Amino acid sequence: MFSSDLTLASVVPRRVDTVEAVRAAIALDGAAVFGGLHTEEDAIAFASKLLGEKCIRVGRQFEASARSQDAEAAVVDTQPVDERGRKRSFGISGERMTAHNDGFAFGDYAPDYLFLWCKRPAYPSGGDSFLIDAVKLTRLLAFDPATAELAEFCWSTDIDHSEPNFPQSTFAPIARRVPSGRNQVRYHPYLAPIAGESEEAQWPLVKQWSEAVIHVRDSGPMFRAEAGEMICIDNYRVLHGRDGYTDPGRELYSIWGWSSDAVAVPQQALDIVQPDLAALAM
Ligand SMILES: [Fe+2]
Repeated sequence: MFSSDLTLASVVPRRVDTVEAVRAAIALDGAAVFGGLHTEEDAIAFASKLLGEKCIRVGRQFEASARSQDAEAAVVDTQPVDERGRKRSFGISGERMTAHNDGFAFGDYAPDYLFLWCKRPAYPSGGDSFLIDAVKLTRLLAFDPATAELAEFCWSTDIDHSEPNFPQSTFAPIARRVPSGRNQVRYHPYLAPIAGESEEAQWPLVKQWSEAVIHVRDSGPMFRAEAGEMICIDNYRVLHGRDGYTDPGRELYSIWGWSSDAVAVPQQALDIVQPDLAALAM
């Protein structure tokens, strides 16, 4: 159904070896890979240095190993469906992950930068990463008359970015320019129209956005981060995810960074298993 080559939105980040080059590559492509980081402290220190004067907070959010991920998935699995029949799911380590921006449950409080530090990849294979420049994806959709309406919808219509049972207090379009001037384009599997009279007319467009993202995920390139490498990502602009893996020794750390470009910065660490959105609004 997508006639233009949407996989042009796939990103294989370039490997560069200075802070300045990482900044330049992120500006160009939305992401870059920096190597030689062999401890978590080094990885966090590099992330802080990269954000420089704009840095507000950088810290480890969670560790992604098969054990920790499947344990979190099991807790989330016990949470009920919401009134629209939607249910949260973290997926399991053996499956290809849904593309997403990290921290999507937290709405405006999501980090504007994401650092995926690979302590140890999966052996002998598995867990390869994919990245999608979601801003570029909306531009590609706009080129094609068959999907121009979807691109317009993404940039103009407020929708509900909440996860099932964790309502956010505000609505926003899928794509927007935030006050700092950065573009933010979001995707996760629970996007929904705002409940009400336009809901039925808007569902097909929300679903079409989902299909476009899944199409790029499943037809674009993937790449492997090696031990000591960190994928540095503009989390507002680029969606990420990884292929399934079975090696229990794989270790990847998700480090979240907030710069002064972020829409909002939380005061406390965020819990993705039980998001406490009321505390954020305080
Ligand atoms: Fe993630």
